[in-house]
Amino acid sequence: MIEFKKLLVATVAASAAVIFVAGLSISDTRSAEGKQCCDDASVKYAQDLWAILVKRDLVGPDMEADTPYKGQAPHGAILETIDTTVTVGSNFLGFGGHKSEVILKRNYGGDGVSIDAVSKDRAKFLKAITVMFKREKGYDPENNDWFWVKYKPDGSLHTNPKGMKLAGRVMKGKDKGCIACHAAVKEKDYRFGKQN
Ligand code: HEC
Repeated sequence: MIEFKKLLVATVAASAAVIFVAGLSISDTRSAEGKQCCDDASVKYAQDLWAILVKRDLVGPDMEADTPYKGQAPHGAILETIDTTVTVGSNFLGFGGHKSEVILKRNYGGDGVSIDAVSKDRAKFLKAITVMFKREKGYDPENNDWFWVKYKPDGSLHTNPKGMKLAGRVMKGKDKGCIACHAAVKEKDYRFGKQN
């Protein structure tokens, strides 16, 4: 009987290890994608990231208030910027995944937009949520491994004029777009910081 129990414990432990490792390797293969952006893997990753942001009430129907301030182009007239840490891609047991820094910017605009108006009704003025998430080392070494994404308030992705979904190494190597513009502050790890 004792032997049987030992065997049982060993089997359970071994299965847990397999599940854990399987969870890890799923997130690893995702990071191995080589495309610039906007491919299926980047879109899927953006969806996983969105799900975590909703869970943390950083976006979505129960979005928590932050402090709106006057922004500048190309982001909204009024902005809220939040810098925190989230884990993307853990398996169903909560193991694995990539825990890292996320900078999330809520972009508000439209007729009548002001700090006061946004404070009273965020949903009315929210146009986009632009996000930088620090991926695994080697994801995009030339650009400090940032994952770039532009969401609509419902979590779907904004597209550029060519219809490309804005998620991943957005416009890498081009002279316009997220990476090109933020490269102006490359020495500050691509962070502009609040400008006003
Ligand atoms: C033409 C230049 C430009 C482009 C293109 C641009 N940004 Fe920005 N971004 C800025 C500036 C300027 C700020 C600082 C705004 C402020 O807070 O006043 C900023 C701030 C941010 C921040 C907050 C972190 C920081 O750097 O302060 C995030 C996140 C962000 N941008 C994401 C994106 C994403 C994602 C894209 C592409 C979809 C993008 N940006 C495209 C200029 C740009």
